[in-house]
This record gives sequence, structure tokens and C-alpha cells, in this order.
Amino acid sequence: MPLFSNRYFLPAMLAALLFSAACHKKPAPMPAPTDDATLQSAASFPVGAAISVDLLRNNVGYSSLVSAQFSSITTENVLKFDAVEPAENQFNFTDGDYMVTFAVQRHKRLHAHNLIWHQALPNWVINFSGDSLAWENLFKTHIETEAAHYKGEVASWDVVNEAIRDDDGTLRNQDVNPGDGSIWRRHLGADYIARAFQYAHEADPNALLFYNDYGQEWNGQKLNAIIALVSSLKNRGIPIDGIGMQMHIDINADNNNMLAALQKLIATGLKIHISELDIAVNPGNDPNFVFTDPLNAAQSAKFQYVAHIYNTVPTAQQYGITTWNVTDGDSWIPWFYNRKDYPLPFDANYHKKQAFYGFLTGLKN
Ligand code: XIL
Repeated sequence: MPLFSNRYFLPAMLAALLFSAACHKKPAPMPAPTDDATLQSAASFPVGAAISVDLLRNNVGYSSLVSAQFSSITTENVLKFDAVEPAENQFNFTDGDYMVTFAVQRHKRLHAHNLIWHQALPNWVINFSGDSLAWENLFKTHIETEAAHYKGEVASWDVVNEAIRDDDGTLRNQDVNPGDGSIWRRHLGADYIARAFQYAHEADPNALLFYNDYGQEWNGQKLNAIIALVSSLKNRGIPIDGIGMQMHIDINADNNNMLAALQKLIATGLKIHISELDIAVNPGNDPNFVFTDPLNAAQSAKFQYVAHIYNTVPTAQQYGITTWNVTDGDSWIPWFYNRKDYPLPFDANYHKKQAFYGFLTGLKN
């Protein structure tokens, strides 16, 4: 469309005049990034982060930031199978207990991650060669021992993590891609998921129990499969309280898809935890990536949008929003994908990024 076609010339002139008049006025002050509000104070629901036990132990800057900003913490790696039961029937709770102490001292809610996953398995499990009864015993003993140890000390558990395939919404079973199959489904049958929830509930009846998975905001087939799974558990009276939407997203994530997925999950009546939020800025793995101002702004807007739509979740279903890690310096994304990335609201020097302020604004409304 030529700019000065008749239809557009007058409005364009008028706009130009108004714009130049506006420019001569004193510019309205930018919302200065000096807001002292914290994430936890801005939200009407818990805001959390997945925490590294090493940084918690060794870095006061890190533990102070966590303490100031978040009302909930998730155990990042210390309660995974390989960390807790590295050899058969030998349980190591040292790191997990450290997190419990931190949570108690700083008055944080503690969300435990996770009891059953097809990853983070020790070799003794991978190589285990018992019959189905022996597998059931291994599985039950692990869940019961771990959940019982933390009984009354954690608020909630991700009981089963990532059980559903991306490709067709069926349960992970055989390895289609190396490492992608589930040893649990293979040896225990499809109903292992229900039994995991039952064993966890028997060991810690007051803990809230979650099914946690990724990709629900972009993969409709997977989302529907997850909803079918949790709804069937609920209808059978299996003790499940909530769904974790991991939300490892990037700045191009589609807002309408995220909202639609959230609304479908709300309809289950279960609690919804945005459980592992990070917003990648270099999803294309550009080796020469530069984190420019426009990308900062796009990331900030995405954090704001996610927090904003989470405010539409009915209060009784809001379990909170948790970021996966705390700062760009400790995020799992750069090393896991072997690329430059900056997916979190704080930079590696613990300074608030533009994303922090977008997040804050979204949490408020
Ligand atoms: C990641 C951790 O952050 C890494 O430190 C670890 O090496 C691999 O696992 N989905 C999950 C989390 O449920 O447990 C994963 O955590 C990130 C993806």
C-alpha cells in the first residue's frame, strides 16, 4: 500500500502532527526498573524456583536471592532416583535433608521432584534383571522409603514425571529413540502410574500428589492424553491432586495455545502448577547469538503473559508458578542444549533483568 494514497494520506498527516506535538511535550517517565517488590510479594499464589543444593550450600548471594524472591522451592536434582538410591536399598537423603532445613528456616514451601521418571536412573536399576514381582518390589520400596522419609516435611510430590510420548500421546514404553522409553512401563504394565500414586499416598497421606510433564502448551495430542490419564486416575479414586505443566518455552511460544492448554487443564478441576518455567531466547541454537534489547523485551512480555494468564486460574487450583533454576548463570538450558541462552528473570550476576519486571507485572494482574 503506497503511504500517500488518498485514503491514507490525511490520517497519516494527522498522526504525524500529533506525534511531533507529543514529542515536544516532556516524555512520560518510563516505568523505571527500580520496583523493589519481590516476586513472592507481587503474587497472590506461591512463586518458586528449582534450587541447586551446591549453590545453596556455597553461595550466599544465591541463597539470599532465593530467600528474598521466592515463597516455594522445588528440589532440582537431589530427590531424583539416582541421587536418593544410588545402590539397591542404600538411601542417601543428605542433600534432600539440607533442602528441608533451608525450607523450614526460611519458611518456604517445599515441592519434591520426583519419585518416578524414566531418566536419572542408577545403573543398578537400568541393569536390574528380576521378574515382575521383583520389579514391583523395587518400585514400591523406592517410592515408599523416599516418601516416608519426607513425610510431613514436603508439601507435595511430582509422583510421576514425563510418562507420555510426544509423538502419539501413548505411554512411553519401548525405546523408540534411545533413552526415551520407560523402564517402568516395560516391567510394570500401564497401571504403574496409578500404583505410584497409591504407594506415595500411603507413605505420606498429607502430601499433595502431582503428575508432571512438558509440551502440553504446544502438543495438543499429548495434552489430551495427559488430561485423559489424570481424569481417569481421578475417576478411579486414585489420590492425585494436581498437574505440573513444565513450560520450558521460548520467546516464540504461541500465546493462544498456552491459554487454551491452561483452560483445558483447569477444566479437570485439579490443581495446576506451572512447575518448570523458563523462556529461552536462542531456541535456534545460533552460535553467534547476541541477547539484544528487542529479545530482552520479547522475553519480558512472555513472562508477563504467562503470569497474567495464570491469574485466571481459580484460586483453589493455583498451586503456583515455579521457574526452573534461578539465574541465567545456573540455568540448565545453556549446558543441556550446549548453546548460549538466558532463560530466567535474573542474570548471572543476580541482577534483575527486564524479564523480572515483566514477570512482576504479570503476577500482579
Ligand atoms: C534437569 C536438571 O535441571 C539438570 O540439572 C539435570 O542434569 C537434568 O535434569 N524436566 C524435568 C527436570 O522434569 O527434572 C529436568 O531437570 C529438566 C526437564
